[in-house]
Amino acid sequence: MTSVLSATGAYTIREYFDPIPSNLDGSFIEFAEKLERDARVEDHPFFSAAKRSRQLLVLWAGQEAIVTNPFSQILFRVIGSIRNVHVRSLLLPVVGGEHSAVRKGIAEKSHPWLIWRLCVSLGLSEQEITPTKAVVEFIHALEATEENPMRALGALGVGNEQMLLAEYRAVEACFDMACPDADYRDFLHANIAEDETHTKLISNAAIALTACGYQASDYIIGARQGVAARIQYYDSLLGEMPPTATL
Ligand SMILES: [Fe+2]
Repeated sequence: MTSVLSATGAYTIREYFDPIPSNLDGSFIEFAEKLERDARVEDHPFFSAAKRSRQLLVLWAGQEAIVTNPFSQILFRVIGSIRNVHVRSLLLPVVGGEHSAVRKGIAEKSHPWLIWRLCVSLGLSEQEITPTKAVVEFIHALEATEENPMRALGALGVGNEQMLLAEYRAVEACFDMACPDADYRDFLHANIAEDETHTKLISNAAIALTACGYQASDYIIGARQGVAARIQYYDSLLGEMPPTATL
């Protein structure tokens, strides 16, 4: 719950209005981003199995449809917990990119809607989309970072936006091979096209937060937790399938 008062009970109007200084040290970002690159999610055995398994890709799409909305909602809450107007403004294009204009009742270019369309093209009914232990634990891991906006930005920026670039390219190669008839390109390309910018905006917001009293080390902790949670997610998701499904 965001209060107008700080943890000490004080009220400091400047923290809401202070412009972002231009001379901040952003060297911690490179360290955090290296954690993601070193994890090499694209080499996870899930993807070599999914190249040969439509069933595994159907499972992936359904779980992605479950995680997409909570991901956006967490980001909204994190933005809502940041007091400084300039830092909140830095992050707005990230939630803007996940959503879109509404036509005939549909946010047609929003990322959640694009993954829903992929699920429909795979013939998935809503009864078939049920949360696995893997996705529930992944969402809980993201939610656990929320109490500290800096940590949450590390998890969301490095462990999600940055990681999705390599991850979704790997997923696209799987669909190309095992499920070329599905409607997967709009969703994957929308993310791949935007997530480099989103990663940059989130890291800029994290650098700005260091001027608001937040610790750079929390960004690194969040990045490490986010990366580990996503790798764990793929470990668990692979375990959800009977061995024959990957043949
Ligand atoms: Fe994104």
